[in-house]
Amino acid sequence: MPQMLPIIAIDGPAGAGKSTVTKLVAARLGLLFLDTGAMYRAIAWLVLEAHLALDDEQKIAELVSQAKIVLTGTQVVVNGVDVTGLIRSPEVTGKVSAIAALGIVRAELVKQQQAIGARGGIVAEGRDMCSHVFPDAQVKIFLTASVQERARRRQMDLAESGQGEFSLEKLERSIAERDLIDSTREISPLKKADDAVEIISDNLTIDEVVDRIVSMYHLKTAR
Ligand code: DC
Repeated sequence: MPQMLPIIAIDGPAGAGKSTVTKLVAARLGLLFLDTGAMYRAIAWLVLEAHLALDDEQKIAELVSQAKIVLTGTQVVVNGVDVTGLIRSPEVTGKVSAIAALGIVRAELVKQQQAIGARGGIVAEGRDMCSHVFPDAQVKIFLTASVQERARRRQMDLAESGQGEFSLEKLERSIAERDLIDSTREISPLKKADDAVEIISDNLTIDEVVDRIVSMYHLKTAR
């Protein structure tokens, strides 16, 4: 059996900086970057395109079992369509939590994520990486920040990318709403795994967070 390469699993709520940090950690260590939220977003996009009702489990099951998601770096292609930008739309963002709460969707995507990580050598980010998808990961992180800080960062991102000016109050409300759905759903709710290390990023720079994770990785893999 070839030696399994290490896995870094990073969970946390929306807007805690997971994507940025995960990409940088992967680049620093020469590992593959796996954005599992993008996979749920791709399915949400397909469900919206097909005008399926959220309670039409039969049709959603068919759709998810036939969906071919290809992740290449940050590019996301589903059934041959490049949806990299489309999956970040407000429509998809508004529906994705409900779709990610469906057991049938999670079962299929978890299977695909575990297949991608079967040989290790990845940095995977999501909500259930540490607890469920990669329970044997060498490094487990729960990256979080206060709702206020996450809203502030989101406001800056939206303004910088020309998507408009949004009030902090509105952003705080939508972040808190998404947290609630993600952390109270029945299957694999967002929750810090017992053996994950919590990093609260409010007063840390991106580089400081990346450095901490890279150091933890070196410590674990040097043994
Ligand atoms: O990280 P993100 O905002 O792109 O995630 C999109 C949605 O998918 C979010 O509502 C949480 C959900 N998700 C999940 O339930 N499990 C994962 N492993 C990753 C994301």
